[in-house]
Amino acid sequence: MKLLRYSCWLSLYIFSTGVLHSQTSVEGKANELRTALKPYFVSVSRDDSFIKKNIAKINLGRKLFYDKKLSLGKGVSCNSCHDLQKYGTNGDYYLQQKAKGQFYRDVPTVYNSVSFELFNVDGSLSNFKNKIREAFLRTHEMEVQNEALVIQELKKTPEYLKMFREAFFKKSTSITFDVVIDALEAFLSQLKTPAPIDAFMEGNNTVLSNAQIQGGELFVSKACYSCHTGSSFGGQMINKLGVEVPWPNQKDMGYYHIKRKSSNKMFFRVAPLRNVAKTAPYFHDALAMRLDKAIKLMGIHERGIQLKVVEVAKIKEFLKSFTGEIPQDYIKEN
Ligand code: HEC
Ligand code: HEC
Repeated sequence: MKLLRYSCWLSLYIFSTGVLHSQTSVEGKANELRTALKPYFVSVSRDDSFIKKNIAKINLGRKLFYDKKLSLGKGVSCNSCHDLQKYGTNGDYYLQQKAKGQFYRDVPTVYNSVSFELFNVDGSLSNFKNKIREAFLRTHEMEVQNEALVIQELKKTPEYLKMFREAFFKKSTSITFDVVIDALEAFLSQLKTPAPIDAFMEGNNTVLSNAQIQGGELFVSKACYSCHTGSSFGGQMINKLGVEVPWPNQKDMGYYHIKRKSSNKMFFRVAPLRNVAKTAPYFHDALAMRLDKAIKLMGIHERGIQLKVVEVAKIKEFLKSFTGEIPQDYIKEN
């Protein structure tokens, strides 16, 4: 991880000193931006052959995702918080709960989450399956606490028995928690939202506007890209929130709750930024309701700089190129 950081700074240095001035055309600037982003960029795409091969499993996973009966109070499903029509999160629900005084971290999206290295806003887990398991069991998600209760509920529904048989029974003889997790994993793994930035990185210069390309240059030269890297511009590592100026709200100390070492205080996962223009509010504590404010705060707290209004606006335009389309057919409730 350290190595990654160093080489990233090196490429930033090269980017911000030399090459930029040598080519001035829009085309040239687009190519320079692509070169600067390339070392850490990973595109996302849906795997149609995987979907075709695993369709029974995926259909089952989708049904489980929308099923409220699988939560403790039978009042919420995965989709209540990770609303697939709202880019896999649910700001309204989160704000309602927060207003009631409940300790709820802002809900991160499930879109593209299969490719994150770390899960949860504090990066407490590094295994996707374990995260799905935890989603059933823990407070603030499905809250069932006991795996057996999920299985008991599923066995009451003949349609589930049929679907599990189609998806798994060739290998397994009964409904187990493991196969429930498998089915959800298969469904979640193809919740991907390819975006203009992917087309741009494949060589198409016309998908980004001029302002977006300038915003991209700022994203690199202001070193946002030193933390926000990888397939989702984040989700890869934890870092201190408030490296330069302490974060105003120190109620939730992030990774410190997992490992109580004082050097872990205020460490949070670098938030993934795909679809970020659609997933307000921002930060684990929803300190920013708007994307402009989130960008401004990042300048102050992570970089120790006051970004100009016009710089914030351009970075925001660039971040909009991370917005993909919701795969309506794929997420349709069956
Ligand atoms: C009541 C709201 C709620 C429900 C219901 C819920 N989640 Fe979550 N989910 C959250 C919150 C809040 C987090 C972040 C927790 C944290 O950071 O400590 C989260 C995190 C996640 C993550 C990690 C995403 C990331 O970016 O790291 C995944 C994946 C996930 N949930 C899947 C599910 C699945 C699958 C279900 C249903 C079985 C589910 N969730 C049900 C609120 C919910
Ligand atoms: C030192 C590492 C670091 C740098 C540099 C950095 N960020 Fe962040 N960023 C983070 C962390 C950590 C979070 C998650 C904080 C949280 O969950 O409360 C985050 C969150 C965000 C969010 C909120 C996403 C969401 O869904 O809540 C945005 C937007 C963002 N960063 C943009 C930027 C921009 C733009 C820059 C450059 C000006 C930047 N960041 C620089 C570490 C960094």
